[in-house]
Parts: sequence; C-alpha cells; structure tokens
Amino acid sequence: MTPQPIQPDPRAGAAVKAADRAHVFHSWSAQELIDPLAVAGAEGSYFWDYDGRRYLDFTSGLVFTNIGYQHPKVVAAIQEQAARMTTFAPAFAIEARSEAARLIAERTPGDLDKIFFTNAGADAVEHAVRMARLHTGRPKVLSAYRSYHGGTQQAVNITGDPRRWASDSGSAGVVRFWAPFLYRSRFYAETEEQECARALEHLETTIAFEGPGTIAAIVLETIPGTAGIMVPPPGYLAGVREICDRHGIVFVLDEVMAGFGRTGSWFAADLFGVVPDLMTFAKGVNSGYVPLGGVAISAEIAETFARRPYPGGLTYSGHPLACAAAVATIHVMAEEGIVENAARLGAEVVGPGLRELAERHRSVGEVRGVGMFWALELVRNKETREPLVPYNAAGEANAAMAAFGAAAKAAGIWPFINMNRTHVVPPCNATEAELKEGLAALDTALSAADEFTE
Ligand SMILES: Cc1ncc(COP(=O)(O)O)c(C=O)c1O
Repeated sequence: MTPQPIQPDPRAGAAVKAADRAHVFHSWSAQELIDPLAVAGAEGSYFWDYDGRRYLDFTSGLVFTNIGYQHPKVVAAIQEQAARMTTFAPAFAIEARSEAARLIAERTPGDLDKIFFTNAGADAVEHAVRMARLHTGRPKVLSAYRSYHGGTQQAVNITGDPRRWASDSGSAGVVRFWAPFLYRSRFYAETEEQECARALEHLETTIAFEGPGTIAAIVLETIPGTAGIMVPPPGYLAGVREICDRHGIVFVLDEVMAGFGRTGSWFAADLFGVVPDLMTFAKGVNSGYVPLGGVAISAEIAETFARRPYPGGLTYSGHPLACAAAVATIHVMAEEGIVENAARLGAEVVGPGLRELAERHRSVGEVRGVGMFWALELVRNKETREPLVPYNAAGEANAAMAAFGAAAKAAGIWPFINMNRTHVVPPCNATEAELKEGLAALDTALSAADEFTE
C-alpha cells in the first residue's frame, strides 16, 4: 500500500498527550512511569505520530489487526451497519449476528457449530470454563504455565504468567502444568519426540494425582502467544485430545491470538488436525475494529444447554456493529487470500529472514513460529541460553530489552516485546516489501541487543 503523506501537527499531539496523561488510566502500568505515544493515524501495516514519524507495525496492535488498519471494505461495512441498525439487544435474531455466526461456524473445525458471542477474549475464556464446569459437573480446570488467557478474574487465574500473581486469590480450582517447549525443556528432553512424550506423561500424572473425576477442562492456547509462540511438537495436541476423551474432560483451545489467519490457516487447530470441544476467539475475528470475542461450541456441549438454560450472558453479546465488522473481515480475508498470504510469506520470507538474522546476531538464541506468528528468543549466551534479561525483569535489569526496543523504533518498526523475546507478528496481509523493510529494521535493532551479550 502506498503510504499517505503525513501532515505533522505537534501541537495537536501535545494536547492529545496531555489529556491522556491527565485522565486515562492505562492497562498493566504504573501510571506515572509510562509515556504513551500519541498516534495521529494508521493505514494498512503502518501508523504515525503527530511529529510525522511513521512506524511499520510489527505488533498488529496487540496481535489483532490481521487485515491491517482501516481496511476500506470493513470500515464501509461498519458505517453501513451504523446507518441501518447500530445496536440491538442480544435476545433477538439480527442479520449481522446471524451471518457472523454462520461464517465463523463454517470455518471452525469439526462440529463447533454454535457461537456464543462475548465482548473480547477474556470473557470468552470465562464462559468456556463455565460451560465446561456445567457440562461435566466437575470443579477443576487445568492450564499451562507460560500462557495468557485474559485479564478478568477467572481468565487471569487460568493464566500462567506473572500478570496473574497480583490477582491469585481466585485461583481455586485451577491447577497448572507444563506444556512442551523444547528450547527451555522442563523434561530434560533433547528432541521434539522426547519433549512431546514426556509432556504428555506429565499431564497424565497431574491428572491422576488431581483426580480425573474432579477435572472439568484442560485449557490450552493452541500455540501459546504472548508467552512465547511455542509451536507444540507433532502429536502433542492429539495426545491431549485423547487424554481428555479418556477422562471425560472438556478440551478448550484458546485461539484468541492464534485464530483467524495468524498462523497461515483459519485456526491453528487446523495445523494439527485437532478438534477441541470448545474454542475461544476474539482479536482477528474482525481485526479488532469493534470489540468482539466468542466461544465456538461442539454439538455435545450445545446439547447440554438445549433444554436447560445457559446461566450466562452479556448486554452486548453479538453487537451488530462488531458482527458486521466480522462479516466484512471474513469476506475480505477470503477474497484477498489473506490466510494464504500469511502462510506463504511466513514460509518464504519471514521464517528464512529471521533464521538468517539468527545466524548473524549473537543475541538470537532461537527462532520459532509459523505464518505471521514468530518469536525470537534473545539470550546473553547462545550456549547457556541465559535469557538476555531475567524473567519478569523491570527497570535497570531490563536495560537490554529497552535498548533493543528503542533501536527498533529508531529504525522504523514498532516491536512486540515480552520479557527476553521479540515477537514478529505483522498483519497477515503485509506485503513482501513491507516484511523485508521490517526485517532490515530488526537487523539494526538486534545489533543493539548484541551489545548486551557475553
Ligand atoms: C490467547 C489469549 N486469550 C485471551 C486473551 C484475552 O483477550 P482480551 O484482551 O480481548 O480480553 C488474549 C489477549 O491477548 C490472548 O492472547
């Protein structure tokens, strides 16, 4: 996409920033220690500030603008829906809602054919867990360390990262286990086969000691996203599916981040040929143009609530504006081959480009990913794999990642940074030229990270 000329307007930027600092309370932040960039506009794979600086967005927002910013067809669909029926209560049959549900159900794997709409990802996870508990009559939920499932009370308690710690009081009924991750194996494994077999054995043992009859659900991100884009080894998810079947446990796959084209398939579950009982989605369903999430429900679980009311709901479940955006997004993705683009350019440009960077930079310990869903593990020492910054580092201890981030921005990309990793998660319709531009900027930024290696 040809970039539009930017009109700098620093005074307007200063006013936006001042009002933000005075009144906006930001997520996950010490309010006085942050310095949010005032953003003037965005289009396609880029956004720009009021000083006229343009950034290639290698984060897709928070990994949600799978079709980039301001796609004209989706913007038009939202405008048309606003003119026709901006809002309507959830108990009615509304065209945009019906059509979004139909298009999503057509794409979800297996018999996940009923769609419960939520406002976002966290409440989708909350409802999936509630459904699983009611369906099985069991209390416990198993989830993985190195996971993120959302910021609401139940979802953050299922989460396996430090963002949970401050809210751990509601953990009752949640048991965490280790999912496979060969680069930092908990199982002393040296091959993907060993990691897979030992991770499944560990899950089996956890279930045996917790009591299979007490476990309602196993919740997993199909490919854990924020926690590090760890693609599971072949056979792992099929193994979890088999364990769930054997013990009558509901298998929940969280595709809030991995779904809707991110991995170069409509859903990451398709890559592994696995069908869960419940699947959560949000983000890419409409590229976040209007908040929307949901749970795709199997025939068996839907049957549980066929003659018994489901005890849950939301005022804005299936909001017409959000659903119209989803309908338009799904059509655009199909018409423009966006899922195929993510698969092809991921395999031909991003993957090889990142591996080539890893060879030249001392700070890159591992490259992993698929489609437009990649992580670089930054290390102080390739041999020992010591992370470039300690787990959950802040302030001075995080200087190396701060230097990497500043260098990336100076080179023209907005990087995704989590602990000692940078994730390469551009829009799924990014062009080859944009990706190469981003890889070149990453090359410069990694030189800054190299300075912190041993
Ligand atoms: C896998 C996963 N699940 C759930 C969530 C929570 O989604 P939301 O922030 O829309 O509530 C996220 C957000 O990043 C996520 O990545």
